Amino acid sequence: MNDFLNDPRFADIEPFKTKVWLSSPTMHGEEQAWVDEAIRTNWVSTVGKNINEIERQMAAYIGCRYAVALSTGTASLHLATKLAGERLYGQALPSEGTLRGHKVFASDMTFDASVNPIAYENGEAVFIDTERDTWNMDPDALEKAFGLYPDVKLVVVAHLYGTPAKMDEIKAICDRHGALIIEDAAESLGAKYLLNGNWTETGNLGDYNCISFNGNKVITGSSGGMFLTDCKADADKVRKWSTQSREAAPWYQHEEIGYNYRMSNIIAGVVRGQIPHLDEHVAQKKAIRERYEKGLAGLPVRMNPWDRDKSLPNFWLSCCTIDEDSMAPMVRGERDYLYKSESGKSSPQEILEALAAFNSEGRPIWKPMHLQPLYRNYAFITADGNGRGRSNAYIAQNGTDVGADIFRRGLCLPSDNKMTPEQQERIIEIIRACFR
Ligand SMILES: Cc1ncc(COP(=O)(O)O)c(C=O)c1O
Repeated sequence: MNDFLNDPRFADIEPFKTKVWLSSPTMHGEEQAWVDEAIRTNWVSTVGKNINEIERQMAAYIGCRYAVALSTGTASLHLATKLAGERLYGQALPSEGTLRGHKVFASDMTFDASVNPIAYENGEAVFIDTERDTWNMDPDALEKAFGLYPDVKLVVVAHLYGTPAKMDEIKAICDRHGALIIEDAAESLGAKYLLNGNWTETGNLGDYNCISFNGNKVITGSSGGMFLTDCKADADKVRKWSTQSREAAPWYQHEEIGYNYRMSNIIAGVVRGQIPHLDEHVAQKKAIRERYEKGLAGLPVRMNPWDRDKSLPNFWLSCCTIDEDSMAPMVRGERDYLYKSESGKSSPQEILEALAAFNSEGRPIWKPMHLQPLYRNYAFITADGNGRGRSNAYIAQNGTDVGADIFRRGLCLPSDNKMTPEQQERIIEIIRACFR
């Protein structure tokens, strides 16, 4: 760790007295009232008015017919994956997942909760590389993947950092190949996409749709998630599975395997108090993004891009990459890293350390799934085809790996909606000092 506080490049910059977070919960007070009401009326289990109300309000916001409140976004993704598996391949034995023996295409640069449910259901993820226009699943790589694995019938797509993926292209490819889409909108609640001429909320773009109310998301219940659909049978099934799959009998009767995945009415009270502030939070995140764009101008960095014609991100996290020729040397192992400071250049790890030294929180770009030890043996498809084994001594190394490149050169900047413009100015100063 460099001694940034005594480094002349950072002279005159004061550490923050209170920490500036990457993205932390922002409470308003209404949350307390709904939680108190649940306690006062003794509705503190997994049924109650708060749950009913947030399901109604979120379905209305997203523009779908049904919303099912669950304990986490991960639970929602698991049950979405199971629903898709059953529809495609039939019901499995309780000891076997619905995807046993089947491959599933999945976003590569995402949080692992997007793709772990494929493994929970015994399926095999095939990771699809990232494009540079929105940092999401590359439709060209997806098309290549269908060429290599024509039997695949399921695709999991995430909208990274709140920026919608190229859903029109991805949907057209999936339609052509008869594949279903699980949409992971955990990070993108409030983001919109222009699909077939209609502005549509993310969370309403797939066959099965999931959002998260994790503490770091644009609105939170402290935890929580939701499954969103227009299909009543799917909503009913998810509600049943999430409450241990009890059958309508006088005793505990089970014909399918169940889960304890339902949201509690207390958590739902927090979400209920947050929903009226969703658009306000998105506006704050947008203002943060705009201040970074202005403040970082002139530095050899680029902010995370989006499709300005077809999408309105929620700007959950502001991120940037350092231009290649301004990257100071940096290497990362599985758990440690080394970097060198060089005049006029910097690296993500140096900037992250500098931010930490001044009491603020950034984060590396989500490490792509194909680089994770957990998924090292799983296929990875790029726009050039097979992304594995590209270093054969007899084959020219012309393959791309966009995800690895963004991970290497990128970082997530402090994006907390309680960060003041003055605090953000100081963050920008710290980043500028890194390039001195
Ligand atoms: C892309 C993505 N998918 C899924 C999840 C999982 O949501 P949860 O933490 O609510 O389980 C998260 C975040 O936590 C996420 O960022």
